[in-house]
Amino acid sequence: MRQKLVAGNWKMQGSREMAETLAGGITAGIGEAPPCAVAVCPPYPYLDEVGKLLAASPVELGAQNLAVEDEGAYTGEVAGGMLADFGCHFVIVGHSERRALYGEDDAMVAAKFLAAQRHGLVPILCLGETLEERESGVTENVVGRQLEAVIAAAGVSALGRAVIAYEPVWAIGTGRTASPDQAQEVHAFTRSLIANKDAKIADSVQVLYGGSVKPANAAEIFSMPDVDGGLIGGASLEAESFLAICAACG
Ligand code: PGA
Repeated sequence: MRQKLVAGNWKMQGSREMAETLAGGITAGIGEAPPCAVAVCPPYPYLDEVGKLLAASPVELGAQNLAVEDEGAYTGEVAGGMLADFGCHFVIVGHSERRALYGEDDAMVAAKFLAAQRHGLVPILCLGETLEERESGVTENVVGRQLEAVIAAAGVSALGRAVIAYEPVWAIGTGRTASPDQAQEVHAFTRSLIANKDAKIADSVQVLYGGSVKPANAAEIFSMPDVDGGLIGGASLEAESFLAICAACG
């Protein structure tokens, strides 16, 4: 039985005050034994403070991105070792916004995945197709290609220390959620691709769904057999809605 995981991706939003209030609200409401594993991924400057607020709670800290390199003359970049230093457990890798807006191709995403694991971080590897790709029937080709690039670089066993997030690009921040059946279909495909290489890893890897998950639709999506929780953007910015999504795992 895979444990479910709900991770909040705060993106580049809020302020120091908001980060404190949000982290405080989540730790106050989460209880000692939440029905799932829980993580939040604040912007870099708030990692330290949020990490301290989470320290006595079961909520894990994650970052939203990391550098390919471990150190050196890379102005503006943040290395995996620095994130580990600040107590990060997770790091999001290959979010569609990074792929689309910052030119992160499959090779770079694979390199970031490796960089994360070099520093003991658990990558949350994002995969997903655009609306155009879905409408032209190539969803599985795209998701398969994105995943194969990481497996080629890191080996299938590396997925034993990673989380996958299926995030259809057309569902992110749009209010347009994939139906539970649409999510299940891609999640099952993802798991079967891994099972062809290693059945045990396929069975144990958590595959999250992301894209307009809200308290109102979370339980239905999370009830699908291959959906192991969610990566939550907009609805993770208020403690109440984030906690309600966590509760939907129960
Ligand atoms: P959303 O974002 O929940 O606001 O759609 C999800 C994500 O981008 O991780």
